[in-house]
Order: sequence, then C-alpha cells, then structure tokens
Amino acid sequence: MEFSLTEEQLMIKQAARDFAQNELFPGVIERDDKAMKPELQIKRMAELGFLGMMVDPKYGGGGMDTVSYVLAMEEISKVDAACSVVMSVNNSLVCWGLETYGSEAQKQKYLTKLASGEVIGAFALSEPEAGSDATRQRTTAVDMGDYYLLNGTKNWITNGSDATYYLVIAHTNPEKKHHGINALIVERGMPGFTIGPAENKMGMRASHTHSLMFQDVKVPKENRIGEDGFGFKFAMNTLNGGRIGIAAQALGLGTGALELSIKYAKERKAFGKPIAEHQAIAFKLANIEVEMEAARLLVLKAAWLKDQHKDYTKAGAIAKYFASEAAMRATTEAVQIHGGYGYVKDFHVERLMRDAKLTQIYEGTSEIQQIVISREILK
Ligand code: CAA
Repeated sequence: MEFSLTEEQLMIKQAARDFAQNELFPGVIERDDKAMKPELQIKRMAELGFLGMMVDPKYGGGGMDTVSYVLAMEEISKVDAACSVVMSVNNSLVCWGLETYGSEAQKQKYLTKLASGEVIGAFALSEPEAGSDATRQRTTAVDMGDYYLLNGTKNWITNGSDATYYLVIAHTNPEKKHHGINALIVERGMPGFTIGPAENKMGMRASHTHSLMFQDVKVPKENRIGEDGFGFKFAMNTLNGGRIGIAAQALGLGTGALELSIKYAKERKAFGKPIAEHQAIAFKLANIEVEMEAARLLVLKAAWLKDQHKDYTKAGAIAKYFASEAAMRATTEAVQIHGGYGYVKDFHVERLMRDAKLTQIYEGTSEIQQIVISREILK
C-alpha cells in the first residue's frame, strides 16, 4: 500500500495552495459579504488549468488524475469554497459527464470550451419537488422528431447565471419512470430559457445559485447525452464522482479552519500563556486533526479508486458523508477556539462554518449518502 504522493501531485497541491493564498485570500471576505461573483478569480482558475483538470488534453484539459484534483480542491477550499464549488461542478459533473458519455461531436463543440475554462457549465437535476427524490423529475423533454421540447423549472443550480452550457435532466417518457429520463445539453440564450434571481444564501455567497426556467425550449436531438432514457443513470453516475469533489471541498474547509485555529491558539494569550497550551484548546485541535486526517484518507481512497477504474460509489458517498460532517464539527470548534473573534467576519472561521453547512446538503444530503452507503452494503 502506497501512501505517498508523486512529485507531480505534490507540485499541483503546492500550485493550488500558492494560488489560493496569494490570489483568492485577498478580498474573500468582501466577496462573501456582498455576494460578489469572483469573475477575475474564475478567469485565473481557467488560465491555471483548474477548471478542466482531469479532461484529456486533446479536449483542452489538463490530463491529471483524480488524486491531483482532490488535492487542488482541498487547497482552494481552505481559502474560498465559493470558488472551489465552481471548479468542482465544472470538473466533476459537467466535464466528466460529457467526456465519459458525450458523443465526439458534443466533446468537440462543448467539452473543449468547458475544459479550457473559456466557458463554464452547470448541472441541472434538482427541481422544486425533486431534490433528493431525483426520479421525480417534472421537467419534460417531449420528443418532437429532430428536437426535444423542454418545459419546467430547475432549482438550486450552482453556476446558474455564470454558465454557458447546462446539462439538464428531464423526463421524456414518464410511463417508463427513471428509464424515460434524458440528459440534454442546453445553451444559454436558447429561446424560452430564462434564469431566475440569485438565492440569498447563508454560505458560499459568492457562488451564485439560481432557478432555471424552460418554456418551450427547442433542444436539438444531437444534444441528448447517450441513448434515449439514459439520463437518470447519467445523473447518478456523474454524482457518484461529484461527491468526491465535494468531499475534498469539505476537507479543505475543515483543514482551513484547523490551520487558522492553530495560528490563533499560538498567538492568543489567556491566563498567562498561549491558549494552545491550555488542554481545553489543545484537545480541540487534536480532535479536529484526527477527523481531518481520517477524512483525507477517505477522500484520497475514493479518488484513487476512481483513477484505478474500480467501483467508487460507496467510497465516494462515505468520503462525502464523513468529510462534510467532520468539516461542520471542525469549523464549529474553530469558531469556539477563536471565542468572540470567531464570531466576527475578519477572522474567517465563521465563513468556513457557514460554507461547511452546504457540504452536508448539496450533491446529496448526508442522509442521501447514508442511503447510498447502506444500499451498497446490503445489495
Ligand atoms: N449510481 C448509479 N446508479 C444508481 C445509483 C448510484 N449511486 N443510485 C441509483 N442508481 C440507479 C439504480 O441502479 C436504478 O437503475 P436500474 O433501474 O437501471 O437498476 C435507478 O438508478 C433508480 O434507482 P432507485 O430505484 O434505487 O432510485 P431511488 O429513487 O430509490 O433513489 C437515490 C435513488 C440514490 C436516492 C437518488 O435519487 C439520489 O441520489 N438522490 C440524490 C440526488 C442528488 O444528489 N441531488 C443533488 C443535486 S445535484 C447538485 O447539488 C449539484 C450542484 O449544483 C452542486
């Protein structure tokens, strides 16, 4: 069993760390506070190759492995999870889905631009009444011969107003239940496609989340991904990998909180010595370290399994479940370690705590991960 990283993986981790500390850290509080889109920062992520890390270079990607991707996700999430979620959706859901299941023509037309970061993508599965219960898609894509007529509403769409291309899941044959669902590539600007206002979120405020409305949108047949009826499987398989990215994001939020807490605990004095020398604080730091190390091993294992082309469904769900729950505990404890300072924005940990909450909710809640894990062990 090999626990060490390759030279290349270490270099990618360091490059992501340098970028995050030097270019994302400045202004992160203001971007969060004012829910400002990190446009310049996303542009830089594209230039540095973080938006299509795992895509084959022949389609404009970085050709890196999943382990490198999670290392970069962790470093970027330590500083700015609103940026790392854009990265995660573009890499794990949109680019991976297209590269794995798209036609050659779809890859040439869409993937090349998405992988280079020239444009970004969004993944539209959730609906007002179909978030966790994903088979209950109300959005319809009626087969009209050479196009689908798309009608319905999608909710909670990350990159909702930033994306150029959207992978939209919709029902074509409701009588076939989940075997009647399709995944379609929808372009921004297609007549009948409108974007609702941004949600006013508790955390990851600089990442913009929207509803999408489709009214008689004509989507060409060639924009369907895979065979007729493959859409639900497409969504499930894509989310299996997406969860590894969010697990890495949660890990970054927890380790970011730990790094800030260690620094603060060494500097801040109480009762005549740095608070790190009080066991009440030292034990909290030790507990966070233990949980983060466990989360890291789970994230890396899931990523490694994916790189080895082995089944990673259970490993990804375990990593996401554990890392997001641990990140919530770590960031909450980090606020406690910082005392009153933890409760104000200047010290960052309250933002990490708000952001960590979302990792327990999106790309499948913790309860969904428990369902996925229990099904895997019971089948
Ligand atoms: N991987 C692959 N296939 C899967 C699967 C998985 N993890 N889970 C289910 N399937 C397949 C089943 O094999 C079955 O296919 P067959 O009939 O061909 O065998 C089909 O899907 C239906 O399975 P079930 O009848 O078991 O489906 P279900 O309705 O009981 O529940 C579920 C499945 C796991 C709960 C699923 O609905 C689910 O994952 N829900 C959560 C969806 C989710 O993560 N939503 C978040 C939105 S995306 C997002 O947040 C992106 C963002 O912007 C950040």
